[in-house]
Amino acid sequence: MALSTPKDYTVSLHYDRRLYGQDIAGSVAHARMLARQGIVSDKDAELIVMGLTAIRQEIEGGAFPWRPELEDIHMNIEARLHERIGDAAGKLHTARSRNDQVATDMRLFAKEAIQETAKGLRALQKALLDQAEANLSVVMPGYTHLQRAQPVLLAHHLLAYFHMLERDVERFRQAYQRADVLPLGSGALAGVPYPIDREFVAGELGFSRISENSMDAVADRDFLLDYHSAAATCMMHLSRLAEEVVLWSSEELGFVRLAEEYTTGSSIMPQKRNPDFAELARGKTGRVYGHLMALLTVLKGLPLTYNRDLQEDKEGFFDTVDTLQATVGAFTGMARTMQVDADRCRRAAEGGLMLATDLADYLARRGVPFRQAHGIVRELCGYALKEGKALKEIGLKEYQRFSPLFQEDVLTITVESSIAARDVPGGTAPKRVRAALLQARKTVEKAFD
Ligand code: ARG
Repeated sequence: MALSTPKDYTVSLHYDRRLYGQDIAGSVAHARMLARQGIVSDKDAELIVMGLTAIRQEIEGGAFPWRPELEDIHMNIEARLHERIGDAAGKLHTARSRNDQVATDMRLFAKEAIQETAKGLRALQKALLDQAEANLSVVMPGYTHLQRAQPVLLAHHLLAYFHMLERDVERFRQAYQRADVLPLGSGALAGVPYPIDREFVAGELGFSRISENSMDAVADRDFLLDYHSAAATCMMHLSRLAEEVVLWSSEELGFVRLAEEYTTGSSIMPQKRNPDFAELARGKTGRVYGHLMALLTVLKGLPLTYNRDLQEDKEGFFDTVDTLQATVGAFTGMARTMQVDADRCRRAAEGGLMLATDLADYLARRGVPFRQAHGIVRELCGYALKEGKALKEIGLKEYQRFSPLFQEDVLTITVESSIAARDVPGGTAPKRVRAALLQARKTVEKAFD
């Protein structure tokens, strides 16, 4: 939007009109309370509520006459109310200020956004669990330093993401609890000189608590920071998953094939199936981090109480909510529709020297101190590399050159025996992973709040 008059600089209507539903709900609850408390007449309150209901319909039907010169959503709705019901409209702002009004709207919006976000995360968790269950016997290499390290179950790997997302859900739950506080009744900053009933308003709007200090209530945007920071961590997790999807779907690894709708072709190379959704998710993480930093910076050094700087809380917040929710949705679809190539995964897990740790454990179980066993197998691996052999191509005689403790049964070490041996809580042994999957299913069935 190009600026034509100085006043344009202060306008927020083009983004805060998104708050119309919250603003109307807050005003309806406030008007009802004013009437209950005898601060305005029942008739005026009724007119106000009817007028606000009609305005909601106008907005939703696209018939509302938006007036940017009135700056924000609050003034637009109030002015329209005046046009519709006359002087009674002026009574709505009794015992209220735009400062406690906008804080209330943002808290209502944040609470809804958190619930939506958590719902999306639960759907993504379910999609990951479905893939894990459908591919329960698939083995793959686990990596450290992006070097093949030890074989694991694909389900175990996917469950790792389930747990990251579970911590995100937990962070959003905490963010919800902190957002769930009603600021209305704080007035401009000092409270209001009317016998209001804040608990009634809280009940009407679904808030569990009311704020305890009027100055804090109008100046506080911590509840937005809570969402931003949970969102930043969640995007970080999704960008790690994105990176794995990029690697897994590459021709080099080929562990998964993405559904066509989650790839794009190249305009010049007909064979390409680019993982653009995963790449965009990785890229969009930056702006979510940016909005967190922006709000921290807006709040830094602000004196109590309300300052117009606080209007800058909105655009970044809306963008973070939209970006995170769209990203979670894209990953849910991508996870549901990707095809696992079990053979490619297994070949990668069986190749090379992946069972080296198991050989060291073999010697350690026969009394060799683990550090020493590690050294012996390291030499053995050097030998295998020099000979160009995979471990499974090495015979017993060759093993025994490195330690006489190697016996016939060393040849029975396989990817399966390696995985089954990690039979500890949190390990990749199939029975542990099956139990973890059951537990995870129970977790996702639980209600969010
Ligand atoms: N549009 C303003 C905001 O978002 C509403 C509150 C205005 N309050 C004021 N004292 N100017 O912060």
